[in-house]
Amino acid sequence: MTRKFRVAVIGAGFMGSMHASIFANEPRAELVAVVDSDIGRAAALAGQLRGNVKAYSSHLELLAAEELDLVSICTPDHLHLDPALAIAAKGINLFVEKPIASTMDDAAKIVAACKAAGVKLGVGYLLRFDPRYYKARELITSGKIGTPIHIYARRNSARTEGPKRYGGTLPLALHVTVHDVDMVLWMLEGQTPVSVYAQQTDILLGSLGTQDTIAAVVRFSGGTVVTFESAWSLPAGARHMIDARLELIGTEGSFEVQCGDSGLYFADNQTSREIDTQHWPIVENRVGGDLKLQLASVLEWLDGGPSQVASGEEAIRSLELTRALIRSAESGEVERL
Ligand SMILES: NC(=O)c1ccc[n+]([C@@H]2O[C@H](COP(=O)([O-])OP(=O)(O)OC[C@H]3O[C@@H](n4cnc5c(N)ncnc54)[C@H](O)[C@@H]3O)[C@@H](O)[C@H]2O)c1
Repeated sequence: MTRKFRVAVIGAGFMGSMHASIFANEPRAELVAVVDSDIGRAAALAGQLRGNVKAYSSHLELLAAEELDLVSICTPDHLHLDPALAIAAKGINLFVEKPIASTMDDAAKIVAACKAAGVKLGVGYLLRFDPRYYKARELITSGKIGTPIHIYARRNSARTEGPKRYGGTLPLALHVTVHDVDMVLWMLEGQTPVSVYAQQTDILLGSLGTQDTIAAVVRFSGGTVVTFESAWSLPAGARHMIDARLELIGTEGSFEVQCGDSGLYFADNQTSREIDTQHWPIVENRVGGDLKLQLASVLEWLDGGPSQVASGEEAIRSLELTRALIRSAESGEVERL
């Protein structure tokens, strides 16, 4: 019989609601509770979900009341640390949304606490579960590409969503570019970044406390050069939900991952937009896509199976390189790592 893991989700916002919905419908999980400092939000979410899901207003209440196997942390980045330390200290496994934390110090404390407690820690880099990126990486690991020479990774989206939600709390690079940084580090396993040069601007979104775009060039220890480009300043009417691409040129071959087109474009007399078919599409009232594959894989990992979920150490590497991009963009100087 399939083992059921007792799971709770902390943070009942945008991501936490989807995590909770996925765990509530997962055969290997029993969603026990959702937590939000806004108890009304936690209670509303718990009430919508399958099963007898409880609502708590803090991780301390949750941990005092429930026996758990896994907790997923979906609070804002700078608020991952306290729940993570308390959960690890209780010997409970952890899944933490990317980018693990907003500072290197917090990230190191989370990883050290999980290690000391002997619990598993996964971090939410869901592109690893997007079959397009996954299969592209396989082209490298199978030798078909030879040695990677150049990678170009783009992630551009409209000004309507991200900047309004995260402006003032999270630099663009830490919210957006970090996904590609994790993917590139995963693809270039064995190489380390040695130098970074970046530029960013805030002509449009400075008043919201964020940047319009960041562009960076990173040199790796094996000689591979990587160009990152992220913007969340595309006009509201832009066709793409996320205009993402990753192109690689190698000594023996090349590939292009093209995610600009979701495959489903809708227009009527008022509006036009692409509908998500990849990350968290709702099909038959259930959240699917990469996010579901990722969380299902975490449960399989708890059960002793394999998982390509990002580890705490890998998340530290992504955070370190992304932080270097931001430092270079702020100083205008090359950062040596
Ligand atoms: N993987 C992805 O593609 C992706 C996309 C968006 C966001 N994220 C990440 O997910 C995390 C959550 O982002 P979001 O967009 O869901 O944010 P959000 O603001 O929508 O939700 C955060 C929730 O946490 C609650 N909260 C704040 N402090 C709390 C505390 N101390 N205890 C309990 N609840 C608390 C807030 O009330 C809010 O409901 C962040 O780390 C973010 O970077 C990942």
